[in-house]
Amino acid sequence: MDVEETEPLLDLHPAPADLEAEALRGLSAEPKTLPCKLFYDEKGSELFESICEQPEYYLTRVETAILRDSLSEIAAVLGPRVQLIEPGSGAGTKTRLLLDALDDLVSYVPIDISREHLLGVAESLRRDYPGLQVQAVCADFQQTIPAPEPDRPARRRVVFFPGSTIGNFTADEARAFLERMAEVAGPGGGILLGFDRRKDPQALIAAYDDAAGVTAEFNRNLLQRLNLDVGTDFVLERFTHEARWNEAVQRIEMHLVSTTNQAVQLGEHTIAFAEGESILTECCHKYGPEGVAGLTDRFRWVQTWTDADERFGIQFLETV
Ligand code: AVJ
Repeated sequence: MDVEETEPLLDLHPAPADLEAEALRGLSAEPKTLPCKLFYDEKGSELFESICEQPEYYLTRVETAILRDSLSEIAAVLGPRVQLIEPGSGAGTKTRLLLDALDDLVSYVPIDISREHLLGVAESLRRDYPGLQVQAVCADFQQTIPAPEPDRPARRRVVFFPGSTIGNFTADEARAFLERMAEVAGPGGGILLGFDRRKDPQALIAAYDDAAGVTAEFNRNLLQRLNLDVGTDFVLERFTHEARWNEAVQRIEMHLVSTTNQAVQLGEHTIAFAEGESILTECCHKYGPEGVAGLTDRFRWVQTWTDADERFGIQFLETV
């Protein structure tokens, strides 16, 4: 590869995850939890791709269809000369749809905690979008990220946060996240984000417990990952996947339920499980038609796009 062609990545040196400490904290809590970001080792990322192809998991398909159908409107609302910032970047289908549609895009800023992932993203985008400035930032997007100055002045900064990733946050966490993103976007900026809608709990549960068992494998892979990377001794067969609808807080919860009384070794610590006790591994909050508008006064609602069945929403909010 020609080094001169590659804009160096802005490395903010995010602290490497301390898997053992994070696992211990969660498994010592009552009730037991594990952070959902731990799903995505190599195997977990593959399984997630496969979840997106399951017939019950409508989210990715519906969001991509909304984006495709609304592209020219979205491009008109965002306007020309945007600097597009994507926390936890994909450079997948949805990002590319937007890159293709935006008028005179100034630069694309993928932000990710994985240097390796970022370099791959930046390389493939530079190949496919030769004129586009790609300003990769290696950072934990949960921290405030300074948006790098593009070579050409941008009219506005827009954060792109698709995929219903916002759903992993509680209302308080979502508010805090949005306020950080309002800082990143700055005056005149905005956020374009995807959110999953409330619907028949049976349809939601099916989306998180597909018949082929891919989501179950994805959930249990978290234990396998801890076995590999932390040296725990989880026996995967002794935990079953369960997707539950929590009506009070309007979210799907993924659990790993212990099928027996058992003990698991984590470093020096022994974690005891009673039969039927579960580990909460992920929360996926579902929204009404207003989406996240109203969670914070740092953004004002501009427009929401949805599908005919109102299964999913994409909305644009502007900084106030
Ligand atoms: C990547 C967080 C959007 O919540 O639907 C899919 C993750 N977990 N199936 C979601 C997930 C189980 C997904 N997000």
